[in-house]
Amino acid sequence: MENAKHVYITTPIYYPNDRPHLGHAYTTVLADIVSRWYSLLGYNVFFLTGTDEHGAKLQREAEKRGVTPKAFVDEMSAIFKEYWSKLGVGYSRFIRTTDEDHESLVRNVLNLLNEKGYVYRGVYKGWYCTACERYYSEKEYVVENNIPYCPIHRRPLEFVEEETYFLRLSQFRDRVLKILREGEVVYPRQYAEEVASKIELEGLQDLSIARPKERVSWGITLPFDNRFTVYVWIDALLNYLTGAGFNKDKKHFETLWKNSIQFIGKDILWFHTAVWFSLLSMLDLPPPKKLVVHGFLTVKGMKMGKSTGNVTSIDDMIKRYGSSDAVRFIIARIANYEKDSEVSWEIYDSIYNGDLVNNYGNLVRRVTSLAIKLFDGVVRIAIDHEHAKKVEELVQKAIEYYNRIDIAEAVKTALDIAHETNAYLNRKEPWKQENPQPTIYTALESIRLVTLLLHPVMPNITQNIMNSLNIAIERGLDQFKVGYISEYKVKESPIPFKKLATS
Ligand code: MSP
Repeated sequence: MENAKHVYITTPIYYPNDRPHLGHAYTTVLADIVSRWYSLLGYNVFFLTGTDEHGAKLQREAEKRGVTPKAFVDEMSAIFKEYWSKLGVGYSRFIRTTDEDHESLVRNVLNLLNEKGYVYRGVYKGWYCTACERYYSEKEYVVENNIPYCPIHRRPLEFVEEETYFLRLSQFRDRVLKILREGEVVYPRQYAEEVASKIELEGLQDLSIARPKERVSWGITLPFDNRFTVYVWIDALLNYLTGAGFNKDKKHFETLWKNSIQFIGKDILWFHTAVWFSLLSMLDLPPPKKLVVHGFLTVKGMKMGKSTGNVTSIDDMIKRYGSSDAVRFIIARIANYEKDSEVSWEIYDSIYNGDLVNNYGNLVRRVTSLAIKLFDGVVRIAIDHEHAKKVEELVQKAIEYYNRIDIAEAVKTALDIAHETNAYLNRKEPWKQENPQPTIYTALESIRLVTLLLHPVMPNITQNIMNSLNIAIERGLDQFKVGYISEYKVKESPIPFKKLATS
């Protein structure tokens, strides 16, 4: 395994103030798909997700329910794990910011930052959104009837004035701008430009990184002044270092960090660029290899969220589409980095019916039943080169999309193969042919390739289809060619997707 290629994939760590909804599933499933893709290619993948458990937001939520914060986050983080398991999310570690190794890393890093002279004492005055766990400046908040509102949650901000410690982000202005403008880290680039212009316009201000314990007691104690807790965002960002073993095995950490792909929603872009890149620079670490940013899932144009009260439940989705794999497929199909994506049952139904039932599912059913009927399931290699060429071109295209982390396009291209193959069968009418073997073999190969390409998206259903074909899923790129299988022994003809019960 010494020479194996590594990849480190992270999701944001979520506030466990309620059960996860489709918005959280969006990021987590996309990250899981990419992690399963690299795994399929034979990489060593470390996939980190988890929960962000400290801070005022969780403290208040626990108070409201009359339980201790720890009891509350214990219960809620278990629920997050349950949902990820329901959705087939195969993380390597589920990190909790209350984990002992993480708390100790945070203390070490804060001491280090303090020793390096990046921390100083001061007083902070400003308008705070507890749902976001951040201050908003005059330029950022929205004013209605003379009251400042959070631009994301549209709730009134709270005025806070308190003693604190600051982190000297302002020293890293040029460094951050260089990463944003010259690097290839932030994807899509529009987000790099957005942050860069904001920094140029408003500057990069030092960040308040401590909270007096009287106000926020639920947090990691600031190691050099025990009257304070560490600001939850600093605590949270450092989870990516704990997860990669920064305080355990420096060499392994470096290998992972060099190959890191971080997924976030655009709401937390500032923290994952301006703040995160500065923090990493203070620790003499490079930025992540890629920071993939996506838009919001919206309901009537508003970001889906607990605070807004417009969430789509993961359970409802699974129930409607019959399996978590189908839900994962829908998430992959609607994935949009540049723009927000409006939740719509109409669109989701048509993706399910069009792509899964009528296109892919129908193809699997048709070809396997023909193979059984015409050949008793045993189909030896005989390539129809014309169709094979078309399929292989599309396979290459899908692979390129995956490698660019362009999941929606990769999936659409895989579906194009199914579509082309259905049309091919209609044209060739193998049931009328004298020698249907090349058509059936090439169609089986096409199914196998679509199935492999969709394996990261729908791990269970694709595995079942491969079982019906009696084919093992391997690791590596060799298997992505027509002609790889010398003989099929099709066992059964499955119906992988049931028609939607019409409401
Ligand atoms: N705890 C912080 C993140 C710390 S990471 C070091 C946080 N948590 S959160 O629970 O609010 O989750 C934020 C992330 O959840 C978003 O960045 C996004 O990835 C995902 N989403 C939550 N709601 C979403 C939508 N409505 N649409 C798309 N993604 C959404 O912020």
